[in-house]
Amino acid sequence: MARHRVLVPGSQVRILPPQPAGVSEAIPRSSKESMSQGGTLPQTFAVVLAAGKGTRMKSNRAKVLHTLCGVPMVNYVIEALKPLAPERLLVVVGHQADVVRGVLPEEAETVLQREQLGTGDAVRVALEVLEGEEEGVLLVVNGDGPLISDRTLGELVERHRSAGVGATVLVAELKDPRGLGRVVEDAGVVRIVEERDATEEERAIVLVNLGLYAFELSEIRDAIGKVDSDNGQAELYLTDVLEIIGRRSRAVTYRLKDLEEANLVNDRSQLARAEEILRRRILDAHMREGVTVRDPVSTHIEASVEIGRDTVILPGTFLRGTTKIGSDCVIGPSADLLDTVVCDGARVEHSVGRGAEVGEGATVGPYAFLRPGTVLGPDAKVGAYCEVKNTRVGRGSKVPHLSYVGDAEIGEDANLGAGTITANYDGVNKHRTTIGDGAFTGVNTNLIAPVTIGNGAYLGAGSVVNKDIPPGKLAVGMPARVIRDAPGRANDEDRRPRDETEG
Ligand code: UD1
Ligand code: CA
Repeated sequence: MARHRVLVPGSQVRILPPQPAGVSEAIPRSSKESMSQGGTLPQTFAVVLAAGKGTRMKSNRAKVLHTLCGVPMVNYVIEALKPLAPERLLVVVGHQADVVRGVLPEEAETVLQREQLGTGDAVRVALEVLEGEEEGVLLVVNGDGPLISDRTLGELVERHRSAGVGATVLVAELKDPRGLGRVVEDAGVVRIVEERDATEEERAIVLVNLGLYAFELSEIRDAIGKVDSDNGQAELYLTDVLEIIGRRSRAVTYRLKDLEEANLVNDRSQLARAEEILRRRILDAHMREGVTVRDPVSTHIEASVEIGRDTVILPGTFLRGTTKIGSDCVIGPSADLLDTVVCDGARVEHSVGRGAEVGEGATVGPYAFLRPGTVLGPDAKVGAYCEVKNTRVGRGSKVPHLSYVGDAEIGEDANLGAGTITANYDGVNKHRTTIGDGAFTGVNTNLIAPVTIGNGAYLGAGSVVNKDIPPGKLAVGMPARVIRDAPGRANDEDRRPRDETEG
């Protein structure tokens, strides 16, 4: 299955979507790498600020935990930092620290900010961890800008280095600057004023602080101690260091090139806007890799999903979690697959999958529900109005209509009649049903588990089976009793009467 990956949350991920090829080569590497190539670039330390609550989200969950296309906000920021290969990648956590820690990738080192005293305090806490490091660039990134690209971060650092200044801040001119710090730049000094502390004149400024900064380590260390909380929120503002550093060793702005990246998330409507952009990026990446998406508007594919080429995704489809789709599949319309694997050439139409596996060339739906532990073999079929749970359906076997099959093992080339139901639960325990190769059940068969239907056995319509049926026998009735050999079958366990199993 030639699949490609767009982004895997919290692991060896790369965000491919919006990057033109070759971008990461333009990004400065860490000192270790560059020195081994004869360079002398000082090292970069990255700090992601993720300790805040995110009051404007009106949520019980910390803001950075809110997901976009299935991945927590903070993970996008971390993914954008990874290609820079920072010497250390610190994440300041605080509000719901344990939950945030739980979503972070291995590379991220967490630092606890006990009390959320402001962005300045968050950086102060991170600097304590970096004690002893005298030289290098500290790249500080707010955790709520999920659209920021590795390219922008790389350019910010490069620009900062080549300008030889004490601090560089990423800025943009926005049509709607509301809620963001306004930037006043003047001859090597940058001052940022928060909206709530701004004068009416300052509020009219449309140049805003995007919350991404490159600092000389020595400068920020020195300046951070001089920040006070004399402001509207009685917080330590990181932004105050810019003025302090600017007066000593110059601070400059760097303008964001692609304004799409300026979609920061402070409330739910901004969350939806950013997610929409990411959703389109993900779809575009799949389409570039050879996946047909019939209706991008109604197709939702999470960042972690993989899809093979020449697969067609039909409208109204949701592919989520660790779902992996092979090549040459047809998925949808209206497929909703979570943590589900679909092998090459399979079809899934108007169906729901949860932790299921669909074999090569198998067909599912319309209107099937595959629950966790369902494994369909190659060319198997689960058809209309069937629910399957914790069950293996062997190669070429069919569960075509109106069935519930739970906790079962179905061999190869078996055929379950319409309305065949496993009675797998006695109210206390779950029991298993085994159905042999080439077995056939009539319509409305009830299989009272635990029970085994032998290879090539045949059940009459309406049978209620509470005892094992030997291979190759025909059984009928309630409870089903064996009356003779199965139609067209000798009483031979090894025989596989494939021809008669369709129906
Ligand atoms: C901040 C900037 C503002 C800028 C905006 C961009 C300051 C004072 N202001 O404002 O100029 O336009 O970001 O988004 O920095 N955090 C902590 N610990 C804290 C407080 C915050 O880790 O004690 C983290 C938050 O989790 C968040 C980030 O810092 O990821 C920014 O915090 P937030 O409260 O959203 O800052 P803004 O008020 O938006
Ligand atoms: Ca913010």
